[in-house]
Amino acid sequence: MDVIITVLLATAAASGLTAVLAALLLLAERVLVNYGPCAIDINSGERGLDVIGGKPLLTTLMEEDIFIPSACGGRGTCAYCKLQILEGGGAVTPTEEPLLTPEEIADNVRISCQVKVRNDLAVLIPEELFLVKQYRGRVERIIDLTYDIKQLRISLIEPDTIEFLPGQYIQLQAPAYKGNPEPVYRAYSMSSPPSDPNAVETIIRLVPGGICTTWVFTKLAEGDEVIFSGPYGDFHLSESDAEMIWIAGGSGMAPFWSMLRYMKEHDIRRKCTYFFGAVHRPDLFLLDELHQLEAELDWFTFIPALSAEGECDDGVCETGLITEVVDRHIGDASHAEAYLCGSPGMIDAAVKVLRAKGVVEERTYYDKFA
Ligand SMILES: Cc1cc2nc3c(=O)[nH]c(=O)nc-3n(C[C@H](O)[C@H](O)[C@H](O)COP(=O)(O)OP(=O)(O)OC[C@H]3O[C@@H](n4cnc5c(N)ncnc54)[C@H](O)[C@@H]3O)c2cc1C
Ligand code: FES
Repeated sequence: MDVIITVLLATAAASGLTAVLAALLLLAERVLVNYGPCAIDINSGERGLDVIGGKPLLTTLMEEDIFIPSACGGRGTCAYCKLQILEGGGAVTPTEEPLLTPEEIADNVRISCQVKVRNDLAVLIPEELFLVKQYRGRVERIIDLTYDIKQLRISLIEPDTIEFLPGQYIQLQAPAYKGNPEPVYRAYSMSSPPSDPNAVETIIRLVPGGICTTWVFTKLAEGDEVIFSGPYGDFHLSESDAEMIWIAGGSGMAPFWSMLRYMKEHDIRRKCTYFFGAVHRPDLFLLDELHQLEAELDWFTFIPALSAEGECDDGVCETGLITEVVDRHIGDASHAEAYLCGSPGMIDAAVKVLRAKGVVEERTYYDKFA
């Protein structure tokens, strides 16, 4: 079989029909290759799986109800699916290399969606991931928060309750549809608080041409059944009582909307300033609700900002890029913690401003929505 694969690859490169032959190669591999039974040892004998080889480790584990974070849905770009493979992983592939540090490579850390199960493996899986479950739920409500942001409320069917920390995310399955040949999973932060355990809410922004968001915006309807797994992630409130700076853009609002209500419910009075950035006025949402909480909670300040000139002249928001607004409001912040959510560009720019204000890396927490 290895010979067939090599010949196909060489022919593809030579003839310039790489895409076609790559597809043939995949098909050939699926049809012809049977890696047979493989044993996966988990956490040095704690658990063992007998599986049929041939699929990526990430998928193989998922089929055994072991859910590894995989925000990009197995495309080898997010690096969320890292696992230590102690034996049998073979050589690190070129797709994995840029996603791993030299120390991780030395420690046998691998990108589990890029490692095919071909033989027996020994892997280490963090204990908290065994708490992640797959859920079946029903879309109870879809609300337009803006022209390109929707809030989804999913009531849980099976299991019918979920436990999570505010700030954590789920992975929602977009089923196959015309233009999307197979189901994919995408990460969405839960915007509802943990005190609402029979449902999850998410705030989803449309990415034009995006597989999952196109499905959410054009196909998903109230009453539909959906599948998701969770909870995932270590973006949540620390246990300290340090002052907090929150910075979000667009649907990056989601985890903060959960955290804020959690803090109110648990009477956690950490001083907190929340900067929320958008471009134009129609991009702002939940303003009334957040201002209402600002009036109720003396430890909480909400500062919405728009980067477009002349749209905040009535004093409802501030004008400027969110980084400029943060720069204007925050002095020495070496005692503070920072929490950021939104696009990678916004987060990278905001982190630079925060460093200049003295917020150290160990007290900077973020989820990049990419
Ligand atoms: C931990 C985590 C939590 C997240 N939470 C949320 C959330 O609460 N709400 C939310 O709306 N999104 C969230 N995201 C982003 C979300 O997981 C998807 O990446 C996003 O919805 C796009 O999915 P898609 O299938 O529609 O697009 P894809 O089919 O994956 O992408 C289509 C194209 O758009 C590009 N693209 C992908 N994402 C973006 C983006 N955000 N902006 C611009 N271009 C993009 C891709 O590079 C690709 O070229 C989160 C991501 C992570 C990692
Ligand atoms: S799932 Fe994103 S890199 Fe593996």
